[in-house]
Amino acid sequence: MTQAPRHFLQFKDLSREEINYVFDRAKWIKDKFKRYETYHPLFDRTLVMIFEKASTRTRLSFEAGMFQLGGSAIYLNTRDSQLGRGEPVEDAAQVISRISDVVMIRTFEQTIVERFAANSRVPVINGLTNEFHPCQILADIFTWIERNGSIQGKTVAWIGDTNNMCNTWLQAAELLDFKVHVSSPKGYEVDVQKANIAGSSHFEQFADPMDAARGAHIITTDVWTSMGFEAENEARMRDFADFQVDGDMMRVADSEAVFMHCLPAHRGEEVTAEVIDGPQSVVWDEAENRLHAQKALLEFLVLGQVSVQ
Ligand code: CP
Ligand code: NVA
Repeated sequence: MTQAPRHFLQFKDLSREEINYVFDRAKWIKDKFKRYETYHPLFDRTLVMIFEKASTRTRLSFEAGMFQLGGSAIYLNTRDSQLGRGEPVEDAAQVISRISDVVMIRTFEQTIVERFAANSRVPVINGLTNEFHPCQILADIFTWIERNGSIQGKTVAWIGDTNNMCNTWLQAAELLDFKVHVSSPKGYEVDVQKANIAGSSHFEQFADPMDAARGAHIITTDVWTSMGFEAENEARMRDFADFQVDGDMMRVADSEAVFMHCLPAHRGEEVTAEVIDGPQSVVWDEAENRLHAQKALLEFLVLGQVSVQ
């Protein structure tokens, strides 16, 4: 009997030690890549990427990353595969996981990736669901660590929608022991059950976003309307109007604070151009680090811990 595969469906699917191992590997893999040194630990391995929602960064970073590790990547979407024609997720998982070595899925409900993983012979990675976006937070925390060292004890201010990104920050805070200040409009408060966190020990809810930002080390936000919620767009534009990250918010944060955004961003909605295009913004580093962090994740999920070279 072969060992059950490891999955990355939510941030806490990996232990603190494993996440820190992945960060170490991401640095090693990134440095090697920057020196143009070939590293092909996944030679002959295949990643299948299933997209039920649009993507630029996730597709690009997984596809390029898998090739750079010596493997290949196959893109499937619901328009031109049987996935959009009602084939059960369980059947798709059986078939896809017999032909590939690792699977990445971007879809709607978290239960879809869970059902897939339960029927998969190979590791499954959440490339974004309505509830979580663990690969983005992996890259974002790696970006912080690269610049500043450990995130333990730091404060992240989350301004705006308590969406998949926010939920994942909350999980990461419990795992890596930092604090999240959440400021969202009335009716959009943190849902502890949805975020699947133990409680409120690592986050605090603020009515005024300025209070959330005060002294924070990372100020971060995301679109007001996530993919799949377009029908609520008009109401959301009204509800979130007072929750824009602007220069005043950055000025009350820690003097060394950075601004993060998973992208794509809407300048003039959740963030001003002054902030996202300003000197404290690290959004391009976050986007690049998707590549390096996910290469380390792929290596870990497919090969387990490798001896450090
Ligand atoms: N941040 C992120 O996941 O971007 P894409 O939607 O372009 O993949
Ligand atoms: N919260 C956004 C993130 C996009 C990368 C969404 O789900 O659409």
